[in-house]
Amino acid sequence: MFAKKIISWYLTNKRDLPWRNTDNPYYIWLSEIILQQTRVQQGLPYYEKFVENFSTVEALAAADEGEILRYWQGLGYYSRGRNLHKTAKLISENYGGRFPDNFKELQKLKGVGKYTAAAVASFAFNERVPAIDGNALRVITRFLEIFEPIDHPTVQKKVFDLSLELMHGVNPALYNQAVMELGATICTPKRTQCDSCPVRLECKSYANKTVDKIPFKAKKTKIRHRFLQYFVFESAGEVWLKKRGESDIWANMFDFYLVEGENLAFTENLENCVREFGIEVVNITPYPTVNHILTHQKQQIAFIKVTCIGKPKLPGGEWYKLDKIEDLPKPKIIVDFLEILKND
Ligand code: ADE
Repeated sequence: MFAKKIISWYLTNKRDLPWRNTDNPYYIWLSEIILQQTRVQQGLPYYEKFVENFSTVEALAAADEGEILRYWQGLGYYSRGRNLHKTAKLISENYGGRFPDNFKELQKLKGVGKYTAAAVASFAFNERVPAIDGNALRVITRFLEIFEPIDHPTVQKKVFDLSLELMHGVNPALYNQAVMELGATICTPKRTQCDSCPVRLECKSYANKTVDKIPFKAKKTKIRHRFLQYFVFESAGEVWLKKRGESDIWANMFDFYLVEGENLAFTENLENCVREFGIEVVNITPYPTVNHILTHQKQQIAFIKVTCIGKPKLPGGEWYKLDKIEDLPKPKIIVDFLEILKND
């Protein structure tokens, strides 16, 4: 039987991860939000930092947003870091510091979708509800050989309903962890390790040699290519930075003077900027381009250091001494570039 076999495999093969040794819904929620952003190995130090610094949901709620964003730094999609804070405040203020204890209520929280709600409900409260993330979707569609587009909500619903049947009569938390673990370590997107799989003899796509064709997606996501140019104005050990607006993934974080182009050629854009703000340029140093890959975008980002005389006024930002910049929340690519700049 699928569920029993994968659970017994899980119990002997599982990775020892800190959020698996707790039934505290706050820690489980925290781990899931972090793991939406990154892989387990990269997520571990973030999880540990958050737990260490904010040991309860009230502590997280009481922190200021800038502090949380600094701990979030490097995980990307900062709106999720902000949602983390909003949800902590909501739980603290409206729920008396206690997480809702069921799948339905959990989904009402900001940033908590069906998967995360199911993960928290099953891991913390042992509710019988399947947690269908990308791993689980792959494992189940392969096991049952569901050759239907997984980006279709009806197919996701079908996998959810079938999973509910598969998990009948076993411990829900263990079942969900086991499916996920199988997907993360054996039933991987590429180079699957079917030889080590505890359920290969019952797996329909293994029998029919369709493992590498499933899961199947109907539409290819269209990737948008963008060319961003950062002019890093520098003058006598100070750098010009501005705080971004509210509306995008880097909202309220600090970055350099930014121009979006049709390509990476920056001379004309820089000349326009220099003329418009009357900047006296001493030196221009272009740095190697950085690729920043998001779900639906590929950004190529150029950094051009522009050394200038005096502290010209540019709109929306200010000049900062390098050691003052340390404490400001910044996107990871900016942090990385500042490291390069410091070591130059
Ligand atoms: N990825 C998302 N949630 C996870 C969990 N609880 N354990 C391991 N990997 C995960």
